[in-house]
Amino acid sequence: MKVLVATEKPFASTAINGIRKEIESAGHELVLLEKYTDVQQLLDAVKDADAMIVRSDKVTPAVLDAAKQLKIVVRAGAGYDSIDTAYAKTKGVVVENTPGQNSNAVAELVFGLLVYAVRNFFNGKSGTELMGKKLGILAFGNVGRNVARVAKGFGMDVYAYDAFCPANVIEEAGVHAVANQEELFKTCDVVSLHIPATPETKESINYALVNQMKKGGILVNTARKEVINEPELLKLLADRDDLKFVTDIKPDADEAFSKFEGRYFSTPKKMGAQTAEANNNAGIAAARQINAFFKDGSTKFQVNK
Ligand code: 3PG
Repeated sequence: MKVLVATEKPFASTAINGIRKEIESAGHELVLLEKYTDVQQLLDAVKDADAMIVRSDKVTPAVLDAAKQLKIVVRAGAGYDSIDTAYAKTKGVVVENTPGQNSNAVAELVFGLLVYAVRNFFNGKSGTELMGKKLGILAFGNVGRNVARVAKGFGMDVYAYDAFCPANVIEEAGVHAVANQEELFKTCDVVSLHIPATPETKESINYALVNQMKKGGILVNTARKEVINEPELLKLLADRDDLKFVTDIKPDADEAFSKFEGRYFSTPKKMGAQTAEANNNAGIAAARQINAFFKDGSTKFQVNK
């Protein structure tokens, strides 16, 4: 079988070596398409691929139509909003993700952004500390749980809300469960977003919600830009000069946000999962899932059942 790794944002080379070892030792062929700049390169590369490993790469109906032999796509990562899962299903293509494999990397980046924010983006002026502050985690999945673990090391008081995770599970992890997202924003000094991009969450982080935050509140986004209502957050930052917004996903309105100097920071490219460890974990897991699929039809991590 031909397994294509198509990554506009490439894996670390150690991860590619690991993926190659897995795929070739199972008797399959590995083909690499890295750092592509034009969708036509992807359309050409998928033509004879039986399986595909991607990251945030867009797997559109056009890509799926071009991929005549494709049987499985594995998103080496958690969020699969970049893949048209429903269309893949109509074509009989299995879509899987690799949950949890890159979550520590994303969680660590939350604190990189947070320390940078509370120390005034390292401008030399006195900042504040994280110890004793209330951290709110919106969605208690794999990343949220890692964020809670690291936050405790900083001595933070940790709160969480997850529409799909019962309060007792959150409490068992030593985290305060709150009743809804409004309460989370109202209670916490910092809110870190870990919700997926779905029709329900799209633009859900809006003026009314973030405005619940106390004076000096900080919003951290390492999830998806689509969950932010950008015009409303821009208006809120203009209305409240005490709030900060730090993000790992450059908003569409980056230029407008950049005017809030000293209160806004975006990484130039989404890099939460951009560590050798996360690339190895997610890439090798993806390769193993493909091998299992071809060997015995395993679809354990299928997200388009
Ligand atoms: C994920 O959904 O796994 C993370 O957002 C990481 O995405 P990336 O592989 O594009 O860095």
